[in-house]
Amino acid sequence: MDDNMILHVKDLNISIPLHEGLLTPVRGVNFDMKKGETVGLVGESGCGKSLTCRAILAINEKKCKTSGNILYNSDEKGEIDLLTMDPRGKDIRAIRGKEISMIFQEPMVAFSPLYTIGNQITEATLLHITKDKKKAKEISLDVMKKVGIANAEKRYNQYPHEFSGGMLQRAMISMALVCNPKILIADEPTTALDVTIQAQILELMKEMQKDFNMGILFITHDLGVVAKMCDRVNVMYLGKIVESGTTEKIYEDPEHPYTRGLMGSVHKIGQKKTERLFSIEGTVPLAMNLPRACGFYERCDARIEGLCDRAEPELVEVAPEHSVACFACPHPACKAQRAAAEEMIRREDGR
Ligand SMILES: Nc1ncnc2c1ncn2[C@@H]1O[C@H](COP(=O)(O)OP(=O)(O)OP(=O)(O)O)[C@@H](O)[C@H]1O
Ligand SMILES: [Mg+2]
Repeated sequence: MDDNMILHVKDLNISIPLHEGLLTPVRGVNFDMKKGETVGLVGESGCGKSLTCRAILAINEKKCKTSGNILYNSDEKGEIDLLTMDPRGKDIRAIRGKEISMIFQEPMVAFSPLYTIGNQITEATLLHITKDKKKAKEISLDVMKKVGIANAEKRYNQYPHEFSGGMLQRAMISMALVCNPKILIADEPTTALDVTIQAQILELMKEMQKDFNMGILFITHDLGVVAKMCDRVNVMYLGKIVESGTTEKIYEDPEHPYTRGLMGSVHKIGQKKTERLFSIEGTVPLAMNLPRACGFYERCDARIEGLCDRAEPELVEVAPEHSVACFACPHPACKAQRAAAEEMIRREDGR
């Protein structure tokens, strides 16, 4: 991995054996992250975003079978594959919370109701930074102040239920940042918040990113938020990345019909956000017994009958830092892929 790279997710597959059959919610995902950059992972509910980002920290349920590589460029150890580590072992625990940390959509997931907020933030500090309790508390208070928790000393001794939603989100962010991580995974960190608090939290994350030069993996279904936050975007559909590029490219020149559909749902500034709006008809199918076809076929307004329902397009580069997986895309690289798929189908049909 290049020196300026921090993370490289390579051919990540996750399957879950269920009573009804084998679910394959993540199917060959590839993306990377440079040091200090914000990479977005965008897509509708159920497309595999959370499973993907939780795989990085090896915190998916045991029944999730994962393959591929998750290469992390560690300062101390060089390139390591996080997927080869024992999910409960000492090595991954040394990375989790210290070098790579996560903020969750629902802050109550991150906190136990039984301990004070301060106690829980300091736990990470004691584990990874210093054994000195007084110092650990100072560090925690410092971060709590930094994320805008007023009266931090008093707040330190309060329990999660005494915090409002926005404050708890801030507390979770301070817990994630207290060890100065190299990578922050933010899984829909502001979905549950109202718009003004959301804007404050996003601003805060950007500031902290500058201070720490950390990479952020930003998961959301909201392309409006992506525009504010991300340097590069990966659009995910039914367990695959279907389009990937710089934020500018994705906004100016979206190629995949799914990305264009998501664009139609970008919230205008000042618009009241009431629910998840989508202009794309239908829902993400269940990732079980999937036919060999483009995953978006059923919902796509650009689909080519007899092709998109019989072959699955791969991501191909259409411009520097811009890739798309679509047979209907007019770029020469996509046309070449289309011709090869048509030839394969002709041969299958004996034509
Ligand atoms: N433990 C599990 N057992 C069974 N199915 C699961 C499990 N975890 C995830 N899934 C399924 O895998 C698919 C992808 O889930 P995932 O949580 O990654 O979606 P997501 O993109 O994060 O969606 P959201 O935007 O709703 O958070 C979904 O269909 C989900 O129901
Ligand atoms: Mg999720």
